Amino acid sequence: MSEQRIAVVRTQEPDTTTSTTGPTGATGPTAAGIGAGAVGGVVGAVPDTGTGADGGAGTGAVAVAVAHPNIALIKYWGKRDEHLVLPRTDSLSMTLDIFPTTTRVRLAPEAGRDVVVLGGRPAEGEALRRIVTFLDLVRHSARLPHRAVVESHNTVPTGAGLASSASGFAALAVAAAGAYGLSLTATGLSRLARRGSGSASRSVFGGFAVWHAGRPGQDTKAADLGSYAEPVPVADLDPALVVAVVDAGPKAVSSRAAMRRTVDTSPLYEPWAASSRDDLTQMRAALLRGDLQVVGEIAERNALGMHATMLAARPAVRYLAPATLTVLDAVAQLRRDGVGAWATMDAGPNVKVLCRRLEADRVAAAVREAAAGGAVHIAGPGPGARLLPEGGR
Ligand code: DP6
Repeated sequence: MSEQRIAVVRTQEPDTTTSTTGPTGATGPTAAGIGAGAVGGVVGAVPDTGTGADGGAGTGAVAVAVAHPNIALIKYWGKRDEHLVLPRTDSLSMTLDIFPTTTRVRLAPEAGRDVVVLGGRPAEGEALRRIVTFLDLVRHSARLPHRAVVESHNTVPTGAGLASSASGFAALAVAAAGAYGLSLTATGLSRLARRGSGSASRSVFGGFAVWHAGRPGQDTKAADLGSYAEPVPVADLDPALVVAVVDAGPKAVSSRAAMRRTVDTSPLYEPWAASSRDDLTQMRAALLRGDLQVVGEIAERNALGMHATMLAARPAVRYLAPATLTVLDAVAQLRRDGVGAWATMDAGPNVKVLCRRLEADRVAAAVREAAAGGAVHIAGPGPGARLLPEGGR
């Protein structure tokens, strides 16, 4: 197979809004944790002549990217613009060093439609529609009409509130930008990933990241540019997140539908959003001074508040299961025993427990007992999304 490296260089950010007026000229900071090839102006992609998931001979550029999930300590719950995926509040997360997603995108100029294979199976329904819509956005920005073959492998259960869409769309954003020759800064990649799934904007970065909601009331382009994630400065915390998988099955209500219903019907939504803004300010200060206890206390109250808004929605959205509460009891008992441990839950019954790395084994043992047979994983801060060299080969 002959491989010729191609590089597309743009000095301006392509426009990823629906506007067709061309590049915006915006640039953003680059970030540690993104593969060097994806940041600073050059994305390399390799023409592919092999057989892909479609079984046919291909001639398009190919790029492979890896990204890790992130867990929000200050939650994103509620959009102000569904199309642009603009949130109502800022959120803050830690990217994990477990459960990576690896995604390969190959341009298929000969194909009449996109082919998407998730975990070895052809995607269909809503999952396929979301990925094709995302690819349409990339095609529009790159001004390239080609269809693509996308193959993605998650190592985390999908749709179980374990942030599979965050790692999934962050990896897809980086791989698709590479294959289509889009030159994006880390900020631009974060904006692009956001359009696939809001939380994916944060997985572009390693460690701790804040996703700015941006200012409401702006025109489409300004609003799009104003909402991206960036790394958060932290003191030496040595944190771990112990992930207790009490149920790995897919959720009954998607987070997208559940957050819409919460915003539209929950009388607790606005008070939670207001307190979440204060939580974020206080958490950033606690991260800077390395105060894990305050970080943990804020994370737990922010998550419980988010679930309270859902429970007050009409009809109620309830992700927490009996096993979730058993794990929360174990976390409270750990604290009574003098172990720093604080829980957070997302759109599913699984619990993530923030603690010191040195105490993670003890926390994992207590949580394992409470999770009654569910898998327990220990995660540390992980890397940002990155392109793999030479198309991942
Ligand atoms: C509870 O990012 O999955 O995990 O933007 O609609 O794709 P969409 O939602 P998604 O929501 C994540 C919600 C959360 C909290 C968080 O990660 O901040």
